[in-house]
Amino acid sequence: MADLAYTPAVAEATRDLYRKVAKVVPEIEWPVHAPTILAINALKREKNAVILAHNYMTPEIFHCVADVVGDSLQLAREAAKTDARIIVQAGVHFMAETSKVLSPDKTVLIPDPEAGCSLADSISGADVRLLKQKYPGLPVVTYVNTSAEVKAESDVCCTSSNAAAVVEDIAREWGVDAVLMVPDEFLALNTAKKTAVKIISWKGHCEVHERFTAADIRGFREAHPGVVVLAHPECQPEVIAEADFAGSTSGMLSYVGKHRPGRVVLVTECSMSDNVAVEFPEIEFVRPCNLCPHMKRITLPKILHSLETMSVEVIVDPAVAARAKKSVERMLAVGAAKKAA
Ligand code: 13P
Ligand code: SF4
Repeated sequence: MADLAYTPAVAEATRDLYRKVAKVVPEIEWPVHAPTILAINALKREKNAVILAHNYMTPEIFHCVADVVGDSLQLAREAAKTDARIIVQAGVHFMAETSKVLSPDKTVLIPDPEAGCSLADSISGADVRLLKQKYPGLPVVTYVNTSAEVKAESDVCCTSSNAAAVVEDIAREWGVDAVLMVPDEFLALNTAKKTAVKIISWKGHCEVHERFTAADIRGFREAHPGVVVLAHPECQPEVIAEADFAGSTSGMLSYVGKHRPGRVVLVTECSMSDNVAVEFPEIEFVRPCNLCPHMKRITLPKILHSLETMSVEVIVDPAVAARAKKSVERMLAVGAAKKAA
């Protein structure tokens, strides 16, 4: 087990890292984080492991131990191409399953297997089979925030950054003017505004984003004149209608980088603003705080424990994984074709 004492040598070895996150990690916390960060980074090298971290990870994970950071689509792409032997998923369980599905020969670890998701929990493989019986002949577009079992029953996956493109692509391929889109009702409604394809949705919601209201957005504008409002497509359509831009977590990051608003609010999970603020110290971030309790289960000590004990390994039934892989790869192919065009 690693020695986690905060010695002058540890302080010196982590000085530059602390400088990077000083605005968002209180100084008093650093002696707790620093030894764990060093131990994780050493173990990663020793074991040929990579840490894939979602944009909602806390800044000490996101900026100090992650090898790859991004939204769900970027993490899925990276899982498909990494050469590392071990993937530690700093994110929720469906993300770790997606990594395992794309890299069945690798060891995929999740630091806390209880890190779930209200969207993933809202639908089962059996639900999708029933939907297909109810709407025969329509393709099923499934948000990546689902179990491998649900992906296996689907025709293609999507994320919040590619939903409209995926819907149009599969509708064209199947020669239909409607698709089923599960499980996020709000993502489906928001996507429907961007395409002529009819979308039949499911009643799943993200417990973090569903709490934002249009009145909240008006409140931000009143309290912070001139604020630019960026919202995640898992929010209700009324919220998106009040926002200046809607996009995935990485879409928001790109928007901030491109437009450099003086004052901005990211209508999404709390850690996102902390992580982006590190890159843009000159921008004022208004911080509404809706924590994802599932994402917050992932901590530095659990990541260290995961690497030390090689647990908890994510296992997906190979037959389910093979079918789920087709849906995810089909989505990645849509993205690749779009990039090449
Ligand atoms: P993206 O990072 O793909 O925008 O997804 C947000 C989310 O809620 C993942 O759990
Ligand atoms: Fe699921 Fe919402 Fe948490 Fe993302 S933020 S993991 S969609 S509950």
